[in-house]
Amino acid sequence: MSRGPMTAALDTPFRLPCGAVLKNRIGKAPMTEGLADPMNRATERHVRLYRRWAEGGSGLLVTGNVQVDRRYLERPGNVVIDGNGGERELEAFARAGTANGTHLWMQIGHAGRQTPKHVNPVPVAPSAIRGNLSESQHGMPRALSSDEVWDVVRRFGYVARVARETGFTGVQIHGAHGYLISEFLSPLANQRTDQWGGSAENRARLLLETAKAVRDAVGPDFPVSIKLNSADFQQGGFSNDDCLDVLRWLAPIGIDLIEVSGGNYESPRMMGFGREQPGARASTLAREAYFLDYATRIRQATRIPIMLSGGFRSRVAMEEALAADVCDVIGIGRPLCVDTDLPNRLIDRTVEGATSYESTIKPERGGLAWFCLQLIRMGDGEEPDRALTGEQAIPRYVANEKATAAGLVGRRLEPEAAPA
Ligand SMILES: Cc1cc2nc3c(=O)[nH]c(=O)nc-3n(C[C@H](O)[C@H](O)[C@H](O)COP(=O)(O)O)c2cc1C
Repeated sequence: MSRGPMTAALDTPFRLPCGAVLKNRIGKAPMTEGLADPMNRATERHVRLYRRWAEGGSGLLVTGNVQVDRRYLERPGNVVIDGNGGERELEAFARAGTANGTHLWMQIGHAGRQTPKHVNPVPVAPSAIRGNLSESQHGMPRALSSDEVWDVVRRFGYVARVARETGFTGVQIHGAHGYLISEFLSPLANQRTDQWGGSAENRARLLLETAKAVRDAVGPDFPVSIKLNSADFQQGGFSNDDCLDVLRWLAPIGIDLIEVSGGNYESPRMMGFGREQPGARASTLAREAYFLDYATRIRQATRIPIMLSGGFRSRVAMEEALAADVCDVIGIGRPLCVDTDLPNRLIDRTVEGATSYESTIKPERGGLAWFCLQLIRMGDGEEPDRALTGEQAIPRYVANEKATAAGLVGRRLEPEAAPA
């Protein structure tokens, strides 16, 4: 692992523990695309979007979450890999996203109780607890049986193997933001009394077994990453101390990069929601990076390399984070929904930073819909629409999601045979 010499340069290559090398320190954070076909397979729209991102200069592109089970999507347009075919489409997706010496890692997820109601009115979760999720958006979940939890583990391993076989150069397990694995980690969402719940070790078992299954599926020389919450930011929820324990338990499995984030749909800190703004005299880095203090603690607790995502906008803050050795890779999300060549321009120093679109398109006023629609536009071969307002984005986004959900074929709600 190349932890030193300490450097502030965004264009310094980074060698991961498995031996793979990222060409620079900029990672596109995973962002759900919603571009799959009615069988939840990848399409030409992924090819267009990822070709554009690969040309934009990031060393690493992490895909939006690809689901392990078509019954429990995060969104109707998710790519799913559960025996629904589509390998050739995945190969085309991978070719586009790995152009220009770019690493393309597939984020693999299971939406758990955050599955929207219009996808499945009865989602699954560690326990039959809805939490503070909106009743109009999410059905009451049922608890998975222990056999079903093992099925989830197998599915992650299967999808990781398909990712490698179809040309993706790494995988990331989605263990953050209140989706299934993150629900198991949370003492609020997970009130089981079997081997998957109760103690911190038991709550971490799904993540640890999944990480082992994924590592076994891809072999030792292939990047395996985990996106993990630094904390859930809920009283009684997954805490930063819990996070440090999980990282210690992950160490023997061989993880190449932890993407540090935080929050969930009930407390959306990953987007900067509800965060106390550090004082004006704080450093640019402290003002921007949402999880800076947590990442600093995590850095001291583990030797696993870190990608820090959430809030980075200025080159100064990015360089400062690298120079201070807080993280190895700078994760950037929302700015890349519009300015796809930002990494090239940061590296050649033609810009000082990213435009902070969320400062005008507020998250509570259609912000997320706005960013999602920009990805759809680029998938369709159009340019991003900077003039779109958040208010205009909401109904368009809702209509798109409804139409996509209505068009899904092969979304059988009865149990699917687990891929071998
Ligand atoms: C449109 C959109 C889609 C997202 N989808 C995902 C996802 O599929 N998986 C994930 O782990 N995070 C997802 N995120 C969160 C981002 O990866 C990132 O953590 C967050 O946007 C904060 O980074 P930023 O401040 O640079 O945008 C998404 C964010 C946005 C804006």
